[in-house]
Amino acid sequence: MRHFLTLADFSKDELLEMIALAQKIKAQTKQKKFVPYMEHQTLGMIFEKSSTRTRVSFETGIYQLGGIGLFLSSNDIQLGRGEPMKDTARVIGRMVDMVMIRTFEQSKLEEFASYSKVPVINGLTDSYHPVQLMADYLTMIEFGKEKNPIVAYVGDGNNMTHSWLMLAAKMGFELRVATPKGYECDPQIVAVALEMAALSGAKITFGDDPKAAVKDADVVTTDTWVSMGQENEKERRIKDFAGFMVDAPMMLLAKSDAIFLHCLPAYRGYEVSEEVFEAHAEVIFSEAENRLHAQKGIMVWLDQHRND
Ligand code: CP
Ligand code: NVA
Repeated sequence: MRHFLTLADFSKDELLEMIALAQKIKAQTKQKKFVPYMEHQTLGMIFEKSSTRTRVSFETGIYQLGGIGLFLSSNDIQLGRGEPMKDTARVIGRMVDMVMIRTFEQSKLEEFASYSKVPVINGLTDSYHPVQLMADYLTMIEFGKEKNPIVAYVGDGNNMTHSWLMLAAKMGFELRVATPKGYECDPQIVAVALEMAALSGAKITFGDDPKAAVKDADVVTTDTWVSMGQENEKERRIKDFAGFMVDAPMMLLAKSDAIFLHCLPAYRGYEVSEEVFEAHAEVIFSEAENRLHAQKGIMVWLDQHRND
């Protein structure tokens, strides 16, 4: 049985198998063919943080696969009152067929997974957001940007950046990360990514100059400057991120046909200008829709490998 905790846990071929499944199931869904790949299965969805896309896409996705999703907010379940993760894992794992968790520390997710008898999917932690990157990669394919792209990430060195590192390292493309001083990626995660990059041929570079990162890029991306759990740092962060907004002059430095990706929610006037956001809205909302399709690929793949 496999868990989906970070992209590092899978080979490039395995990730591409999930993407291929996502593409197949997306095409079927578009033709209103709902194949019950996971008939009568229940997906437990534990949320310790807010969500729009993750909740709606997983709940809709499992329903379209013939199963049902259970939305479990930590405010409502005993986990929020102190029941240990490992007990929650052992209880829920006896009742449902798969679990998705959105939580804080990656170690909490890992603890849950180590006690779980069913596959566990990372629906975002402080360290990673791997399901988002699967949707982003599917979107890059759909917009013709997956062949040796230069990807520029401008902004906070956070869970999204870490997952971009993993995607680039697995797929073997060029990723340039520009973060303000003091907001760099986690050095341990960087070390893992660079080790993987050495094997795949990915070129990953770091700096604090957004313009240098974006120059001639095929894909430009960013994320909020204030992630969930960092609300009390908002004022300081907004000051420290001056000059890091992806605006029209910055996008002009990228290739003329570059796309802009954003995992959402987006904060216009901070990490992205209204003008750039609206100019790239078609790609951004395709990316959001692809959460639904990419995650169906991941769930079906994990289901098919539950006896490995
Ligand atoms: N991108 C993303 O994960 O969105 P939600 O926080 O709304 O789930
Ligand atoms: N970095 C953001 C991503 C939200 C989808 C956060 O963790 O809040």
